[in-house]
Amino acid sequence: MGRIAWLPRPLPTTIVFEIGYRVTDVPKLAASGVSCRFGDVLAVDDVSLTVGRGEFVSIVGPSGCGKSTLFNVISGLQRPTKGGIAIDGVDVTGETGHVGYMLQKDLLLPWRTVIGNIVLGASLTRGATQDDRAEAARLASRYGLGQFLNHYPHALSGGMRQRVAFMRTLALGQDVLLLDEPFGALDSQTRFDMQMWLLSVCRDLNATILFVTHDVDEAIFLADRVIVMSARPGRIARELPVGLPRPRTVDTLTTVMFIDIKREVQAALGHAEAGRAAR
Ligand SMILES: Nc1ncnc2c1ncn2[C@@H]1O[C@H](COP(=O)(O)OP(=O)(O)OP(=O)(O)O)[C@@H](O)[C@H]1O
Ligand SMILES: [Mg+2]
Repeated sequence: MGRIAWLPRPLPTTIVFEIGYRVTDVPKLAASGVSCRFGDVLAVDDVSLTVGRGEFVSIVGPSGCGKSTLFNVISGLQRPTKGGIAIDGVDVTGETGHVGYMLQKDLLLPWRTVIGNIVLGASLTRGATQDDRAEAARLASRYGLGQFLNHYPHALSGGMRQRVAFMRTLALGQDVLLLDEPFGALDSQTRFDMQMWLLSVCRDLNATILFVTHDVDEAIFLADRVIVMSARPGRIARELPVGLPRPRTVDTLTTVMFIDIKREVQAALGHAEAGRAAR
């Protein structure tokens, strides 16, 4: 459905006119013409993307192409040199507090328990309440950490630590989540378990997710759409819809459709890497 230019902005996500006409074209998240420069380094160049409510979009691209920078801009931690970010049609450029963000190097605080780490956001902003701790315990129990609520990070496996870090992001209560290589440090079996786990959490939450990974299988397996970025300066080189049916299982990974999409993503990544080599 096309945009209606004369409607005032910001728009609510869904407008129902008296005649029953529905406009649902305001994306949950939109980046418009985002560029980000650090001195001589142009990290991100004119990136525009939209993500629909409840959509899962993976981003892949060569190391240093600006994926984390783009996330920093979307989260408001970094002001873009040009362009802007909108959530539900409202300009939030340079404002923090609108998305949950799991940073690439997401360290748990070793002196805080599982619960203490999950409520960290509340502790830093307004002080964690009993309600926050109860909600954290509910989350941790629901997603498989019920027996470890009072454990410290050193007593958890790598996969468990990633789950705690993810729950800390969830506990911020935002329905847009930016996940920057959340499973990067895990072995392949634990990683697959975590992917299945994330899919089950996504089904529960209907969150809107942007997910950065270097693993092409992971990018496709989780997503509704894969965005391939070029080498720095990071631009969008290719967008591929992932029409694989859900729920996805280990068998999804060997379907013809999966392999076809993988071939296309790899070809686009190959072009991106070749572009970097030629520079
Ligand atoms: N705060 C900063 N100051 C200066 N340069 C920066 C800053 N943040 C990022 N850069 C530069 O911007 C470029 C993109 O970095 P970024 O971390 O966004 O890449 P990436 O795609 O996330 O890489 P990776 O896949 O290795 O995580 C790099 O050249 C990096 O050195
Ligand atoms: Mg990065």
